[in-house]
Parts: sequence; structure tokens; C-alpha cells
Amino acid sequence: MLLSKKAYQRIDHEISKFPTNKKRSAVIASLAIAQEEVGWISIEVIRDVARYLELLPIEVQEVATFYNMFNKRPVGKYKISICTGLPCSLQKGNRVATYLKKKLHIEYGETTIDGLFTVVENECMGACGDAPVLILNNK
Ligand code: FES
Repeated sequence: MLLSKKAYQRIDHEISKFPTNKKRSAVIASLAIAQEEVGWISIEVIRDVARYLELLPIEVQEVATFYNMFNKRPVGKYKISICTGLPCSLQKGNRVATYLKKKLHIEYGETTIDGLFTVVENECMGACGDAPVLILNNK
């Protein structure tokens, strides 16, 4: 058991929202709960979530690697995701990114030495009307 009892209870609650033979439907929510607790989705987390949902690890890994919101490696306390899609770029999103990376002395995917900030590049986040979009810790 990799996660806390409370995390598994939360996963159980997510599972309960679906028919009993459709545990796999709770995979995204389960990964989000695991990431909230552990900070990132390691291979151990993937195996644990897969075991809990009675799936193959590859089935969980496929989901974890598809969505940008899941951290595939450790990140800083504050993960800053900057949209670099066309509408955001046209609204100077790239200037925001350049400024942040320069200010924090890091490149995309890197974390500041103090472990506080990670800056990542994201594709369209579906909020083009609010461009340029930047989200903090997936919120
Ligand atoms: Fe940035 Fe769509 S291009 S939210």
C-alpha cells in the first residue's frame, strides 16, 4: 500500500460512482488523488493504482502520460503551466514564459534550486478566450 488510508477511501468513493465492473472509469480521479498525496506519478504509483483498480499497469500509464496535469517526475511546490498554444502566443504568452524562466533561472521542465517552482509548457488548455493562460498546480 503506497497511499494513505484516506487516499484509498477517496479512491473508493470515486469507484462507487460507476457500475461495479467499471472500476477503470475511476482511473483519472485515482491518479489525481495519488498525485495530490505523493506529488508525482512514479512507476510505483502507476503499479499501485493499477493493482487497486484491477487494471494492467500499462492501462494506467497510458492515462498518466496522456494528460499534462499528471507530473511524470517530481516538480516544485508550485508548478506553473504556461500555455503556448497559438491564441495564447498571440496574446504574448511566450513573453510571460520568457520573463518567468529568466526570473527563476530555469528552462521549461526545470525546477528552481530551492524546490519551489517548476515551469512547464502546455498545449491549449481550452480557455483561449482568456489568453494568455497560465495555471498554478493544475488550478
Ligand atoms: Fe492557450 Fe487555448 S491556446 S488556452
